[in-house]
Amino acid sequence: MIKVIVGLQWGDEGKGKIIDLMAQDSDYIVRFQGGNNAGHTVVVNDKEFVFHLIPSGILHSEKTCVIANGVVVDPVVLLEEISTLKKEGIDVGGRLKISGFCHLIMPYHKIMDRIREKKRMHRLGTTGKGIGPCYADKVARCGIRIIDLFDNSIFKEKLRDNLKEKNAIFKKVYGYHGFSFNKIYNQYKEYAHNLLPYICNTSILLREAIKSRKSILFEGAQGTFLDIDFGTYPYVTSSSTIAGSIYTGTGIKPLKIDKIIGVIKAYTTRVGEGPFPTEFSSSFSEIIRQRGNEFGATTGRPRRCGWLDAVMLKAAIDINDVSEMAVMKLDVLEGLRKIRICKGYKYKNKLLKKLEDFIFDAYIFRRVKPIYEEMDGWSESLADIRDFKKLPLNARKYLRRLEEILSVPISIVSVGSQRQQTIYIN
Ligand code: IMP
Repeated sequence: MIKVIVGLQWGDEGKGKIIDLMAQDSDYIVRFQGGNNAGHTVVVNDKEFVFHLIPSGILHSEKTCVIANGVVVDPVVLLEEISTLKKEGIDVGGRLKISGFCHLIMPYHKIMDRIREKKRMHRLGTTGKGIGPCYADKVARCGIRIIDLFDNSIFKEKLRDNLKEKNAIFKKVYGYHGFSFNKIYNQYKEYAHNLLPYICNTSILLREAIKSRKSILFEGAQGTFLDIDFGTYPYVTSSSTIAGSIYTGTGIKPLKIDKIIGVIKAYTTRVGEGPFPTEFSSSFSEIIRQRGNEFGATTGRPRRCGWLDAVMLKAAIDINDVSEMAVMKLDVLEGLRKIRICKGYKYKNKLLKKLEDFIFDAYIFRRVKPIYEEMDGWSESLADIRDFKKLPLNARKYLRRLEEILSVPISIVSVGSQRQQTIYIN
């Protein structure tokens, strides 16, 4: 069985919990894009684990976790995660596999990310982790990959070339003092030594696994509307976040995927800048933010909150070929008198009738006005409900209406952060 988990909004949909649940039935859990800009929070027995790079499936013993070639790796963060897990008594040895083709986030990428943000006329609100500059170097063919670290002459040459160019730019354009070759060289050689036991050709590993009919779970990071091509550009991340990028991000053969599960939050959130048609007023945003603990797992930044946007979801379902959905944090909506779903937009006072009328271009998107359908809310607590039939009538109506609008079944509803606070729908 080959399954994919993908976020259908702007990330932070709650994928971490679903991945953790589905990892139980998977042999391999694979990350294929993004880097430590992601943050998956998983709560097990009241203990909270936040992962930025290592697939959250690592909490299940005997599962193999793969960081495939499409991921950009900050070795400092990765080694820290490995050491935290070891301290918690979770052995990653032999179970964590990292592609040697992963591009490395270098110290200059992180500084570049932050300086560029400060200098921009319109900030993107990046996580400041060096993700964009690292992917930029990958595409410009001057990136440094993990395997380069194991060949001294190649690593030296690449690092020298990079520093020659980058130090000049840093000094002349950004007024920043630049970076020392020796310091980075020695640091990264040490990282290489510590990472070596985990490095392999993950593309071959996964193809072999598929051949021997192992079950594989591909975990997407971020969400569809942060995709570099199909998201709300330029307010996006630098990788392809949609299900289609699994092939290039892992090097597996194009094959039939059995299930693509789209994860959505029962409302919408966004961190960073960019248009957000259904965004709440700041006072209502604050209420939902506190209830839903809507603060970034990576940067701690407050997330912007808004109503569910079914227009965006329809587009996301289509592009990812989603076959079923998981609705997260339904409990956060309890106690609201009315709940809204955005079913269309107006642009320049005209109704955008078809999806094709609308492109998720930041320029247009900033100017659309949402058209809502309003439903009655419910006052009961959902935290202890485990059966769909026991949900308050209006909560059931909300979920059924979503299925109707989106034409995709909901298979999971989450009513709390604990593993057991989950409702499965046949
Ligand atoms: P970057 O990925 O750090 O370059 O940030 C670009 C945009 O993507 C910013 O708006 C970030 O807040 C957003 N972003 C990146 N990773 C995540 C994530 O895991 N969840 C939500 N937003 C993210």
